[in-house]
Amino acid sequence: MDIFNVREISFNYKNGKKAVDRVSFNVNAGESLTIIGTNGSGKSTLLYLLNGLIKPLSGDIKIFGKDGHAFSPELRKRISLLFQDPHAQLFLLSVWDELCFGPLQLGLGKEEIHRRAEDVLRLLDIGHLKERGPWDLSGGEMKKVAFGTCLSINPDVLLLDEPTTGLDPRSQVEFVDLINELRQAGKTVITATHDLGIIEDISDRTIVLGEDHRVLLEGKPWDIMENTDALLHANLIHKHVHRHTWYVHEHSHFGTHEHEHVVLNEVSDASSIKNEIREAAFRMTDLEKLKKLLAHWAEHNEEHAKTYLEWAEKAGESGDKEIYNILKEIAENTKKLDGLFEKARKIVGK
Ligand SMILES: Nc1ncnc2c1ncn2[C@@H]1O[C@H](COP(=O)(O)OP(=O)(O)O)[C@@H](O)[C@H]1O
Ligand SMILES: [Mg+2]
Repeated sequence: MDIFNVREISFNYKNGKKAVDRVSFNVNAGESLTIIGTNGSGKSTLLYLLNGLIKPLSGDIKIFGKDGHAFSPELRKRISLLFQDPHAQLFLLSVWDELCFGPLQLGLGKEEIHRRAEDVLRLLDIGHLKERGPWDLSGGEMKKVAFGTCLSINPDVLLLDEPTTGLDPRSQVEFVDLINELRQAGKTVITATHDLGIIEDISDRTIVLGEDHRVLLEGKPWDIMENTDALLHANLIHKHVHRHTWYVHEHSHFGTHEHEHVVLNEVSDASSIKNEIREAAFRMTDLEKLKKLLAHWAEHNEEHAKTYLEWAEKAGESGDKEIYNILKEIAENTKKLDGLFEKARKIVGK
């Protein structure tokens, strides 16, 4: 069953700021979708639209097969939004009251309300916060409590806006585990995030929003993660320039130090290097420089070989057989150097 059918929706804020532009997608029951995009690409706005908080200016949204009517009580029961900023979610005098508020609005009996609040305290391991005021919690605790208010409603669909942003590493892992428990329980989960490190862990499908507020790409999270061009274009990763003392190389930054391509060139703009480093480089003997360079080549040889092979494939795809052949040969020969570089690494490492 489709939970959401989103057709060509657009939204501008009152100040004329475009936030969502002709976005379309479907979400099936039980699916876990991630929406990634850089700051300002429209992730939060899209979640507000899915939650019926705001209405699209054009296009349409069907929710559970019906036209999405904002604030219908039925929707409040079935869809819950975790706001990016937990301050937007919490407004009562104690954590306990916060957890009881949603179920109370649903008209449940007192016993059931308390049972749900207790369940959530246990699930999120926040029993010790029960009597605390939400305003004096840490950022991470507040986020957990805000998440708890979504869970105590026991909705079918969870819309999570940057659930792991700003959390310490352990809490991040806890959130990822929790999202997976919700998936296993059959919930539909839509998570907006710019944390690329979690999309493969928590979702079956990923939508990439571009800086133009349109869908740039949609696919399996693992395929998206390999699409460096799209991620660079969406400003989700950046080319990182390393300044070694006498040359520069460039690669895209990706959590691990994956080399997309490597450019070695003379540093022409010497002023961009801090003076002391330049002086240190200047004092190095030629032999020391050579050793450094050799160590660098040894370290990156495998990636260089891969890059040549990628270029070869690109040349092949564009039909240039000659360049394809020569690059392929270069790649193969580069790979053969691995043993030699290993030897060199041992010598210069001494
Ligand atoms: N309340 C608002 N009023 C005016 N512009 C807004 C408002 N909220 C967001 N925007 C603008 O809409 C665009 C999309 O914002 P948002 O949905 O918050 O993006 P994201 O969640 O991906 O960072 C941005 O350009 C942002 O500045
Ligand atoms: Mg946002």
